[in-house]
Amino acid sequence: MIQLFKICKSYGTNKALDDINIRMRKGEFVFITGPSGAGKTTLLRIIFGTARPTSGQILIDGINLSRISRLKLDLLRRKIGFVFQDFKLINSKTIFQNIALALEVVGERPSMIRKKTHQALKAVGLAGKEKAFPLELSGGEQQRVAIARAIINEPMLLIADEPTGNLDPDITKDIMVLFRSVNLKGTTLVIATHNRELLKNTGQRIIVLEKGRVIEERIG
Ligand SMILES: Nc1ncnc2c1ncn2[C@@H]1O[C@H](COP(=O)(O)OP(=O)(O)OP(=O)(O)O)[C@@H](O)[C@H]1O
Ligand SMILES: [Mg+2]
Repeated sequence: MIQLFKICKSYGTNKALDDINIRMRKGEFVFITGPSGAGKTTLLRIIFGTARPTSGQILIDGINLSRISRLKLDLLRRKIGFVFQDFKLINSKTIFQNIALALEVVGERPSMIRKKTHQALKAVGLAGKEKAFPLELSGGEQQRVAIARAIINEPMLLIADEPTGNLDPDITKDIMVLFRSVNLKGTTLVIATHNRELLKNTGQRIIVLEKGRVIEERIG
């Protein structure tokens, strides 16, 4: 599903990623962890195609991201859900509009958009918040909207960058249950997190980054 070969990413003289070789199978649930600045977000952005490696190759479902057209990359991205570390909600649009956008671009019918949006908000514990605007919500609520938006298309791949960074422990637990159910339906999951609690007793694969390199791989 995801193959990274000798990926390096430099910003000036700063090596954000240094010789990353990782393979993730379809349906896998993988955590990426490591200290702040280790390169987690950079790695996720490279997988999503919003950052280009300085050298190395990345294949998603056998497609080489450095070789495909902008249009094909856009089409591929529609099959990927991304929960951004800073949410990236559109503040001038309501919660409903923010989430519906992901369905409108794939041409979903209005009645289905309403139904699915309602279900997704319910799944993240925000039923009834459709008409609110992002800035009327707490950080944790905004984060859950970002999660709802990312899962609504039942993506083949869900990438989440510190998705529970603003959530309290109870909601974090609920969101992890939600992620597991998404994974059980066949979506491949890649989650970056600092949260040690999240990594305890998961039975999932954990990749530890430090200074842009993989320093450890274990099962949590
Ligand atoms: N757009 C950018 N321009 C310049 N340097 C960048 C850019 N993005 C990341 N970096 C640098 O690359 C390194 C890795 O950053 P990255 O955001 O991937 O770390 P991270 O592991 O996600 O950290 P955090 O846990 O704080 O989110 C850092 O040294 C950062 O300063
Ligand atoms: Mg980050």
